[in-house]
Amino acid sequence: MTGTAPRIAQLERSLARRSADGLARSRRTLATPQGPRVAIDGRTLLAFASNDYLGLANEEAVVAAAREGMQDFGVGAGASHLLGGHMVPHEALERELAAFVAPCIGARVLAFSSGYLANLAILSALAGRGDVVFADRLNHACLNDGALLARARLVRYAHADADVLAARMAEHSAARRIIATDAVFSMDGDLAPLPRLLELAQRHDAWLVVDDAHGFGVLGDGRGSLAHFGIASERIVYMGTLGKAAGVAGAFVAAHPVVIETLLQFARSYVYTTAAPALLAQAARAALVLIRDGRARRDRLHRLIARLRDGAKSLPWRLAPSVTAIQPLVVGGSEAAVELSRRLEARGVWVPAIRPPTVPAGSARLRISLSAAHDEADVDALLAALADCAR
Ligand SMILES: Cc1ncc(COP(=O)(O)O)c(C=O)c1O
Repeated sequence: MTGTAPRIAQLERSLARRSADGLARSRRTLATPQGPRVAIDGRTLLAFASNDYLGLANEEAVVAAAREGMQDFGVGAGASHLLGGHMVPHEALERELAAFVAPCIGARVLAFSSGYLANLAILSALAGRGDVVFADRLNHACLNDGALLARARLVRYAHADADVLAARMAEHSAARRIIATDAVFSMDGDLAPLPRLLELAQRHDAWLVVDDAHGFGVLGDGRGSLAHFGIASERIVYMGTLGKAAGVAGAFVAAHPVVIETLLQFARSYVYTTAAPALLAQAARAALVLIRDGRARRDRLHRLIARLRDGAKSLPWRLAPSVTAIQPLVVGGSEAAVELSRRLEARGVWVPAIRPPTVPAGSARLRISLSAAHDEADVDALLAALADCAR
């Protein structure tokens, strides 16, 4: 019998390669709730690192709803949704979300434990071997992973380029075709041309899968990117997450009821996993109320975005074009991005560096993420720290 040493050595070599390429990642441990200031390693840092765009992750009403949900329903759901874990709060959340996002008339919603699982569910239930998934080159990894799980052919098109997509669709026929796109790109903050993608889906009789992880709660009066563009269709399968602007955890798919029933019956990442705790569904319901009434938070967020973009004009780095809370400061090399992040941290400001393979080679960046929980002085402090690093 051989020992495990050769196998361990093989893993060590690939870890060493990752480090040598300047791509090793590590976790930071927060000793406080999410918010504009977090404690890390005994220091308080001004943070621009979360997706808590509306400042709901530690909002009193949301925390109270979770606490009540725990008192009423315990901690664990105890089973998958189909085998006894589906509780009143899950059902109520699905109904309330369906009425709010409305991707088509009569839409239904299915709640998931995470956006990753939701995207795996959509693509693996709607596509199979021989089908084609057309994917924006900058899509989030889980849309691509969904296509892989479906064993579908993944055809990637140039970022946000509907003309290139039209050409790809003319080249590739299949029994079933899906266009899959982030609505707000997670590392760039820009928007997909959803109305044009919907036209192409209609022309080619395809599904349009919209991942609105970063738009739900923020765009379209909180209803998300479809409302932002004023589009709706039975062809749209809409995925929103509850762990970003909603400040909780989990995700949901909103679509025609037959699509939803198909996911419920066939999607393995729905069927074979324990339901998320009902206390999270209660928290998400409370967050949904705040999103619905969240105009003041969104207005504030947009004011902060404008202030940052205006102030950043004099910096030597470029902010990529983005009207959303995701404001990428493109640095270029991985090491330079990490170094800038380190220097900011030395000045008490935390902005994570994002490197390949999460973003294309040569476009490493600081992903500045703003929240309605920030104030003007926070944005000014970030700009001052960046200006200081530029000297
Ligand atoms: C665009 C996008 N889609 C999906 C996800 C996955 O969602 P979740 O974190 O709920 O798994 C993320 C981020 O995590 C994301 O940025």
